[in-house]
Amino acid sequence: VTAASSVVRVGVIGAGHWGPNLIRNFLAGPRSRVVAVAERDERRLAQVLVRYPAVAGHMEADELLARDDLDAVVIAAPTATHHRFAKAALERGLHVLVEKPLARSSTEAEELGRLAAEKGVVLLVGHVFLFNEGIRAVKRCIASGVLGRVQVLQSVRTNLGPIRTDVSALWDLAAHDVSIFQYWLGSLPLRATGKGGVYVNPGIEDVIFATLEYPGGVLANLHATWLSPHKLRQITVVGDRKMLVFDDMDLAHPLRIYDKGVLASTPADGEDPVDIVDSFAGFRSSIREGSVATPPIVTGEPLRAECDHFLDCILDGTRPLSGAAEGTTVVRVLEAIERSLRAGAAEQEVR
Ligand SMILES: NC(=O)c1ccc[n+]([C@@H]2O[C@H](COP(=O)([O-])OP(=O)(O)OC[C@H]3O[C@@H](n4cnc5c(N)ncnc54)[C@H](O)[C@@H]3O)[C@@H](O)[C@H]2O)c1
Repeated sequence: VTAASSVVRVGVIGAGHWGPNLIRNFLAGPRSRVVAVAERDERRLAQVLVRYPAVAGHMEADELLARDDLDAVVIAAPTATHHRFAKAALERGLHVLVEKPLARSSTEAEELGRLAAEKGVVLLVGHVFLFNEGIRAVKRCIASGVLGRVQVLQSVRTNLGPIRTDVSALWDLAAHDVSIFQYWLGSLPLRATGKGGVYVNPGIEDVIFATLEYPGGVLANLHATWLSPHKLRQITVVGDRKMLVFDDMDLAHPLRIYDKGVLASTPADGEDPVDIVDSFAGFRSSIREGSVATPPIVTGEPLRAECDHFLDCILDGTRPLSGAAEGTTVVRVLEAIERSLRAGAAEQEVR
């Protein structure tokens, strides 16, 4: 980035479903400019160029990567291409924002991390939920102790489509949940199990059920599929004091905090003693049903916040929230689930 201009010149690879959102955001602010877009599909490329006539178009990513007027490359092409395009851009000393998941293997992901460090450039992975205000508010709730000790996480991510043919629902959808769990808990799971179902395209799981065991006995479960009639994006967090549900489809109240729980048999200070549960009445009385709070969440476009963060990292030296390290650990967890899928759902160490 030239100090005189402080405008980051961006090239975007891939203008399919997601790429145009990145193009729009990097054209929106004064700190960046989209210089060129590479898209193999002629019709899609034409749509972009009609809307943004000042942008140069290429049919191939390699043509864009060969330009000498870029400071940064944004990769929104299929997952299988992430490593190759990111590596080429990093080798040229360009900053990279690569869509999730960072790569198809932890070996590839690590190589990208090393290269970015060597070249002293920014490598940000598009784990967009880390830029979602609701997800951030949940992290604050967990950190402040409002929920008490976190015991269980449960995520449901379903929709009908978009059906991918290059990667399974694990690498496409569950990547989001794994990045969110990691962001909230600040740790890597020790073990993973997974079961998948293949119904549409041979060899590509459309449905994933996975369980992750985090340090401290925190159990996380995720269900991710593109084969379901309803679009659900819901994550439940159970703590030993309170519980919450994050619902990304609920625009008005994405976060609900339930003052509910099970009363301990050893009463805390000021709490009434509870007898051992030996009857239905006893069971009922051991459940605490309190109020539900719906804290206000200022909702902006998470992708805008992600793009702004990428520019902060380049221009101000801000540390990436989802850099190579975070992106690589997400890949490690996906690999462990994948190994479990291939091993008849046998438990796998995350390594
Ligand atoms: N963060 C999110 O919420 C989110 C949402 C959707 C997609 N994504 C990610 O974005 C990436 C793209 O997803 P999508 O849904 O836009 O897929 P897509 O298939 O709709 O678009 C990818 C585009 O890349 C183009 N392309 C492939 N190889 C190319 C090459 N060599 N040169 C130029 N263009 C090339 C294809 O023609 C296609 O149009 C994936 O990695 C996906 O995981 C992220």
